[in-house]
Amino acid sequence: MPENNRFYTLKGYALLEDNEITTSMEDYLEMIYRIHSKGEAVRVGVLAESLNVKPSSASKMVGNLKKQRLVSFEKYGYIKLTEEGGELGRYLVFRHDTLHSFLCYINKSKNELEQVEKIEHFINTETIVNIKKLLDGLME
Ligand code: FE2
Repeated sequence: MPENNRFYTLKGYALLEDNEITTSMEDYLEMIYRIHSKGEAVRVGVLAESLNVKPSSASKMVGNLKKQRLVSFEKYGYIKLTEEGGELGRYLVFRHDTLHSFLCYINKSKNELEQVEKIEHFINTETIVNIKKLLDGLME
């Protein structure tokens, strides 16, 4: 399946609808997925550093993600995404990147991170998918 269409198979967004996932949990899961995608081991310390928070806060939040069965703790303090956590994480990164590309495009800028971080949590899947289609059309 072409990379562009991969998101159609995502079950991740469905998890957002019936779970008690806060915007902050979304940010953590997104970051865990990003670190994991780089092939790096995810641990509380690395996560706290990447998100500019205290390790104690990161640890608490990882506990919340674990309660929702999105991550599990492995030996030596490694944090692993469950299948559901991976699906959702992949969707969150896709949502972030799509929105970032879109804002950069319309504002003719290279960095819209601040805005993306503020609004990404409130945009539904249909809108994200349609923005992605629009961008794909514009880039053709
Ligand atoms: Fe984000």
